Amino acid sequence: MAKTIIEPFRIKSVEPIRWTTRQEREKQLRAAYYNLFLLPADDVLIDLLTDSGTGAMSTKQWAAIMEGDESYAGSKSYDHFRDSVQKIFGYRHVIPTHQGRAAERILFGVMCKSGDVVPNNTHFDTTRANVEFVGAEAVDMVVAEGKQPSLVHPFKGNMDVQGLEDLIERVGRNRIPLVMLTVTNNSGGGQPVSMQNVRQVSEVCRRHRIPLYFDACRFAENAYFIKLREPGYEHKTPMQIAQEMFAYGDGCTMSAKKDGMANIGGFLCTNNDVLAQQEKNLLILTEGYPTYGGLAGRDLEAIAVGLQEALHEDYLRYRIASTAYLGNHIAEQGVPIVQPPGGHAVYLDARAFLPHIPQAQFPGVALAAELYLQGGIRSVEIGSLMFGAAAKMDLVRLAIPRRVYTQSHIDYVVEIILEVWKNREKIQGLKLSYEAPFLRHFTARLEPVEQRVATVV
Ligand SMILES: Cc1ncc(COP(=O)(O)O)c(C=O)c1O
Repeated sequence: MAKTIIEPFRIKSVEPIRWTTRQEREKQLRAAYYNLFLLPADDVLIDLLTDSGTGAMSTKQWAAIMEGDESYAGSKSYDHFRDSVQKIFGYRHVIPTHQGRAAERILFGVMCKSGDVVPNNTHFDTTRANVEFVGAEAVDMVVAEGKQPSLVHPFKGNMDVQGLEDLIERVGRNRIPLVMLTVTNNSGGGQPVSMQNVRQVSEVCRRHRIPLYFDACRFAENAYFIKLREPGYEHKTPMQIAQEMFAYGDGCTMSAKKDGMANIGGFLCTNNDVLAQQEKNLLILTEGYPTYGGLAGRDLEAIAVGLQEALHEDYLRYRIASTAYLGNHIAEQGVPIVQPPGGHAVYLDARAFLPHIPQAQFPGVALAAELYLQGGIRSVEIGSLMFGAAAKMDLVRLAIPRRVYTQSHIDYVVEIILEVWKNREKIQGLKLSYEAPFLRHFTARLEPVEQRVATVV
């Protein structure tokens, strides 16, 4: 077999991207208060803000969209969706939602109350916010290796099993309505969780009669990492690995905007009949009837096909290799990244990249702003702006949309990052001028800290 791993598709429809001048970008950045969420997407050349809902759909997905059954109740598109989900996840109840956070809100709304504690390897921002919204405490319990950006370890997304035991001992099982495992661990660098860790966490949960739920957004990438890195799984298919993993749990939340390969959608699964009824009641209140849950029939069809495509081995081989290509090419030149590169993204370690910018001056946001200024690349900070004092690291995530950019786009991104790396000492810190009471990073406004005035002595 040839060594070069190529995109396992050819392009049938193209979308132009737009160049801007540095002057234009300076103006746009000021107008966006140094928060890249506030930029018009049209002023971005390479958009690596997120891999969520930004993927390209396949011919089979577009064909399935035409089969969408838009009946309010009992749509056959729901049957296709449920069957596709159950083939992989195996859970009894499949509840569609408009995206992942809607599934989270319903799950925590039904299972948690004020004073409860929810352990997770690392909560994603919306997951943490939804736990806290019902008055519960979100506790991150990733293994120690997962907190050291430069350390190379195959499963830095693993949960600290002893830490989980200790937490249960300390707060008591009655205050822990569920344990969550996020696969892959997005906020911790897109790092995978091993099957062994899933098995151990599941064993602890079963022993204490605490349900285990997966935040399953990137389950296919996680399955492929297990195949590549965990002894005993090299001959299993990603489908078999995913099926085994979910069998250790009791349910999941899912954003189909990631490994569902769709532009919108999500779902909530559970094996618990009583909870499922309560969840469907809440769903009807805010999302929609349980056979569409806020989605069009055509969206359900796109997800039904996308979930299966995400597990194709040639796709996963290319996906993981192209992300690693970006990470390895900048790391070779000394750029500090979370090692090894994640499945869906490369994470720059902003604290190590910009040691002259203190944490209180948002080094991650400053670095993301500079990448935009230099080359029109949009990324996102995952650090002190997103998580406040709870931030363990200040990272800049370069998330790769699925099946969207080619090798030459990635080469361009490498070139721009290396240019910024060369001139890193000139980058300044930022300070907040506005923040919302929760999920502040989406709307925050920032400005450069005072210019250092050169003093003559
Ligand atoms: C790990 C994880 N959980 C949950 C979510 C929330 O999903 P959504 O954006 O569809 O609400 C995301 C989205 O990025 C995520 O990465």
